Amino acid sequence: MLHVAKVLKRAGAGLLLPLLLVAGGCRQDMRDQARLNPLAASDFFSDGSASRPLLTNTIARGHLTLDTPWFTGKTNGQFVTEFPCEVDEALLRRGQERFGIYCTPCHDRAGTGDGMIVRRGFIKPRSYHDPLLRAQPHGYYFDVITHGFGNMSDYAAQVPIADRWAIVAYIRALQVSQHATADLLQDEDRALLASGGVKPSATETGHATGAHGHHE
Ligand code: HEC
Repeated sequence: MLHVAKVLKRAGAGLLLPLLLVAGGCRQDMRDQARLNPLAASDFFSDGSASRPLLTNTIARGHLTLDTPWFTGKTNGQFVTEFPCEVDEALLRRGQERFGIYCTPCHDRAGTGDGMIVRRGFIKPRSYHDPLLRAQPHGYYFDVITHGFGNMSDYAAQVPIADRWAIVAYIRALQVSQHATADLLQDEDRALLASGGVKPSATETGHATGAHGHHE
């Protein structure tokens, strides 16, 4: 505005004003052309609506969701028990990172539900190590992230589908980490466990029986 005022002063309003009017006039054609507002009434089409219904079997770009296990965590209305993607180390690492960002504030790094927000008064969620929760299929976790659960809001906007599956895989790894059985250990570690021995390495001392061996 300031700039315009300066120009007006310099050029003299008498010269500039007609110019502005002419310039403004250029846009009127576009503005006044025959058109209808979205969802407005119209007698042009027989159903009386300006907007056309979607043609059957038409899908907008990026909205094709035929692979229901991937998009919903369900197949035939039931939560999936198999991952709809390959679970490898890269996926688990991605899941660990995303879980750290989006879930640990409440569920904490181990998934026990003692995150910082909970410590400051938010409702404490059930521990992921609760037998009830451990028994839930993979699809259940995907569904909770997608739609929320009780007092927990959904993370559909923040966490894209591929990352949701990565987080689910990581939650599964967390659960295994707290409920591993000896047969999941590598031979070397199982032998160590059987002998009640402690690895000579200094950093391992004190974690001899439980914590190591889950290299997968
Ligand atoms: C702001 C806190 C908060 C964050 C962040 C959060 N949750 Fe939750 N979550 C909760 C609360 C609280 C509940 C329990 C809600 C209830 O029982 O009403 C819950 C429940 C759950 C449950 C269901 C537990 C059950 O009892 O069946 C799962 C699974 C879960 N969260 C996973 C996640 C995942 C995965 C993330 C990250 C993407 C996440 N949550 C992020 C607070 C949070």
